[in-house]
Amino acid sequence: MTRVLVLNGPNLGRLGRREPDVYGHVTHAQLADHLVGTGAGLGLEVEVRQTDAEAEMIAWLHEAAEGSVPVVLNPAGWTHYSIAVADAVVQVPQVIEVHISNVHAREEFRRHSVVSPYVTGVIVGLGLGGYDLALTHIAAGIPAR
Ligand code: DQA
Repeated sequence: MTRVLVLNGPNLGRLGRREPDVYGHVTHAQLADHLVGTGAGLGLEVEVRQTDAEAEMIAWLHEAAEGSVPVVLNPAGWTHYSIAVADAVVQVPQVIEVHISNVHAREEFRRHSVVSPYVTGVIVGLGLGGYDLALTHIAAGIPAR
């Protein structure tokens, strides 16, 4: 079974309670359970993690780089400024960047991602379904180019 890490950055642990008009009512625990189920249906062994600590996220990305484990990443606020997260992302062979909200329809500062130049692809604004689409893409084994 192909292993996949779904890594969520800061404040996503408060899904369901945080700005529900933007991020919905589903909690992170519910999302994690759902994605493990989606993964099982696709023949993927999915592990979902969330952290508010940049060092922890970077350690997880190093783990993925070492094991060549595909990653579905929502870098959350780090998206917009963390060169350290971007430097870790570039080391991982397959990273799908996911944003729950349509960052292009929000504040100007959310339109720029320092991570996007180094990822395989980006899914934006499709709600939590973006994570499912990322897993479907990984399971299909479609080469990016
Ligand atoms: C987000 C968008 C980011 O701008 C924001 O900082 C987040 C969540 C999203 O999933 O829509 O925390 O990555």
